[in-house]
Amino acid sequence: MSDDPVPTLWVLHGPNLDRLGRREPEVYGHGTLADVDTACAAEAAALGYALVCRQSAHEGELIGWLHEAADRGVAGIVLNPGGYTHTSVALRDAIASIDAPVVEVHLSNVHARERFRHVTITGGACVGTIAGLGVEGYRAALRFLAGRAASTG
Ligand code: DQA
Repeated sequence: MSDDPVPTLWVLHGPNLDRLGRREPEVYGHGTLADVDTACAAEAAALGYALVCRQSAHEGELIGWLHEAADRGVAGIVLNPGGYTHTSVALRDAIASIDAPVVEVHLSNVHARERFRHVTITGGACVGTIAGLGVEGYRAALRFLAGRAASTG
């Protein structure tokens, strides 16, 4: 059961995503994190959901937010773990520890980049992974989670 008065989706961004727009624009484009969050908020509103967006460089904070979101009964979580994707067993365990569905999203196509990015430790605990579609990947993940919530009640 949800603690929130309106059904809610969460978007969690990991380390260095607050630097979008300035960070390797040839890889990530010129849009900022605020642009991503604005696009996500518009998509969530069109789907009839409230949206919470948070960003942290800290693994433990992201883990706490995953627990918090699940304990609040959110309909789903879109997670871009950033570099923790390729390193964090603790983040994967946190995803596996909660009932809320998590979709992993990457702006860039991690499979077409350096070899160390081809492995996603966190992705195996998620419902699915979207990579390489830019901000459209976040929108698609929100649509998927809303549809899933509607079909599972
Ligand atoms: C990223 C891909 C990761 O490999 C990288 O460490 C990031 C961003 C993406 O959105 O494409 O920080 O998650």
